[in-house]
Amino acid sequence: MAGISVGFLGMGYYVPEKVLTNFDLEKMVDTSNEWIVERTGIRERHIAAPDQATSDLGLIAAQRALEDAHLSADDIDLIVVASESPDMKFPSVACMLQDKLNASHAAAFDLGAGCTGFVYACGIASQTIASGLYKHVLVVGAETLSRILNWQDRNTCIIFGDGAGAAVLGPVEDGYGILSVDLGAKGAGGKFLSMPAGGSRRPATHETVDNKEHFIHMNGSEVFKFAVRVMGHSTLNGLKKAGLTKKDIGLLVPHQANIRIIASAAKRLSLPEDKIMVNLDKYANTSAASVPIALCQARDQGRLYKGENVVMVGFGAGLTYGSLVVKWHKTEEAKV
Ligand SMILES: CC(C)(COP(=O)(O)OP(=O)(O)OC[C@H]1O[C@@H](n2cnc3c(N)ncnc32)[C@H](O)[C@@H]1OP(=O)(O)O)[C@@H](O)C(=O)NCCC(=O)NCCS
Repeated sequence: MAGISVGFLGMGYYVPEKVLTNFDLEKMVDTSNEWIVERTGIRERHIAAPDQATSDLGLIAAQRALEDAHLSADDIDLIVVASESPDMKFPSVACMLQDKLNASHAAAFDLGAGCTGFVYACGIASQTIASGLYKHVLVVGAETLSRILNWQDRNTCIIFGDGAGAAVLGPVEDGYGILSVDLGAKGAGGKFLSMPAGGSRRPATHETVDNKEHFIHMNGSEVFKFAVRVMGHSTLNGLKKAGLTKKDIGLLVPHQANIRIIASAAKRLSLPEDKIMVNLDKYANTSAASVPIALCQARDQGRLYKGENVVMVGFGAGLTYGSLVVKWHKTEEAKV
């Protein structure tokens, strides 16, 4: 990438306390632990408390990322929040965080790219630093998907969870940091994953509420096929842009949606299990929060080394996809 080298100066995540297991779900919809584990790899997910909204989860993750970066909110020039479940339509979650953090110098906006949101946000935000416009950008992926799930729909309610992850991006040693950004979209597939009502096309009415149109609607098998195609494709594109090949991957941090999607990407990339970060068994699909939570946990497990090529890759509503190839700029100390 041209300009100043940009890397991950600090990271943090937060998941709510309450855990909802597959066995709990068995009592709510016609499903079984066995089916969910076999078809998705998910065993449990975290669910926000009634008084917690997306900005509350994002705030804790952001505070932890700032602490990890040894920076204060005053040092932040821009806040970008990726979310499909904001506290409300507007103001943005980013502006709420700007206020809660007291990041008085920071510009702030939200970005919607579904589960690819964090990858999109880091890709775009990094350019504002590389170009010299800003020095430090706080990127947050935060979701309270439990609020937009139809808990009677077994096709969707079993695969999502709540959580938040954050990163502070800033200048790093030359030659390290984000080497390439590969972002893409296939809008024609948008109908396969959407929340149909609540916008200008179908504003809220009694009918939209009765039809459960304010919840996530998904055609799982279409999204699955798209995901399998783009995960490998975007990873290889990103590597090519960085002048690398699949042999150079040190750690793959994929969007945590379904273990079968991750396994198929791993096969295409000829990657052994120990080079892939997986935590979906415990958190399910936390959409825009999934990649940063997985990245934080990789750090906590001492899996990020100086000079190692870390590839983040995702797909999601839009439909969107994207990858980041990052040459890690420091060896992170294991925390667990
Ligand atoms: C949703 C998903 C797990 C479904 O798995 P699948 O193997 O494709 O299953 P299908 O949708 O083909 O359904 C197979 C059968 O299981 C049933 N089924 C679906 N959900 C079920 C559940 N929770 N429990 C039990 N059975 C279920 C279906 O009704 C279907 O039954 P039928 O054959 O009698 O009609 C899978 O398609 C998926 O992960 N897709 C990607 C979704 C995703 O990642 N979304 C987020 C994008 S960011």
